[in-house]
Amino acid sequence: MGAIVSVLLSLVPPGGHVVATKDSYWEARMFIQNKLSLMGITATFVDMNDMDSLKEVLQNNKVSLFYADSPSNPLLNCLDIRKVSELCHSHGALVFIDSSLASPINQKPLILGADLVLHSATKYISEHHDVVGGCVSGSENLISKIRSCHYDLGSPLVPDAAYMIIRGMKTLHLRVETQNNTALKMAHLLEKHPRVAGDLQATMKFVDSLRLPYIATSFGGCESLVQQPAVMSFWDYSAAERAKIGIKDNMIRFSFGIEKFEDLAADILQALQKL
Ligand SMILES: Cc1ncc(COP(=O)(O)O)c(C=O)c1O
Ligand SMILES: *[C@@H]1O[C@H](CO)[C@@H](O)[C@H](O)[C@H]1NC(C)=O
Repeated sequence: MGAIVSVLLSLVPPGGHVVATKDSYWEARMFIQNKLSLMGITATFVDMNDMDSLKEVLQNNKVSLFYADSPSNPLLNCLDIRKVSELCHSHGALVFIDSSLASPINQKPLILGADLVLHSATKYISEHHDVVGGCVSGSENLISKIRSCHYDLGSPLVPDAAYMIIRGMKTLHLRVETQNNTALKMAHLLEKHPRVAGDLQATMKFVDSLRLPYIATSFGGCESLVQQPAVMSFWDYSAAERAKIGIKDNMIRFSFGIEKFEDLAADILQALQKL
């Protein structure tokens, strides 16, 4: 969050306008809506890839910055970064992409035309569920504008966290490849399974019956994590609010770690058997 806030405070002037996607990281969205507004900064939230709305906002406002998570969390909507970057740049707006869910191995937004890319290093980059940190990459010109702000906010990385991140990154490509393969194989295994359906209660029972993954938020670490957004990240939303943003009662978010695929699959199948 320190990195996200530093970018917003450094690059959006008072009276500026921010465009963000509707399913961008919730805390960041709340910051834009409730705190930036106090500085006279206005914001519009658009649907991912709704180019017509984006074009309209760009034409009618002096947009300083476009901000999106891609893939989004937890719905995994993906942005056409190249197309959005071309459109935003033609109106003088910077493009800022939170690429935490893809990891730097699976998506490189700067190559696709974005100006700034953010990673919550708490996730894949550190990978061991023991560090809170973040990073922003972009041109030297933009980064030098952001640098002083993260000191002002008191959010520089502490040395022991920096050390753990450097150590963790050496195996990033190996871990992401394993996590990637596990996720794809699991999707194939489950897409035709007759018990993958159910209501809020059945889903809670399934999650509680799992023995390997930890029930927790966050993602991208060595240990598999599982969570049911309707009763965890979005516990304080009404059913109607959740439905509006696409959080179904029976939605489960897995973040696979680097355990053996066979062990994870056996665990999921035994928990399904309990339903
Ligand atoms: C997509 C995304 N971006 C940013 C963050 C914020 O990360 P941190 O906890 O490292 O501040 C999160 C946290 O869950 C996230 O999911
Ligand atoms: C992850 O899986 C996707 C889809 O199969 C593939 O395109 C990508 O190259 C994979 N990445 C790694 C690091 O294996």
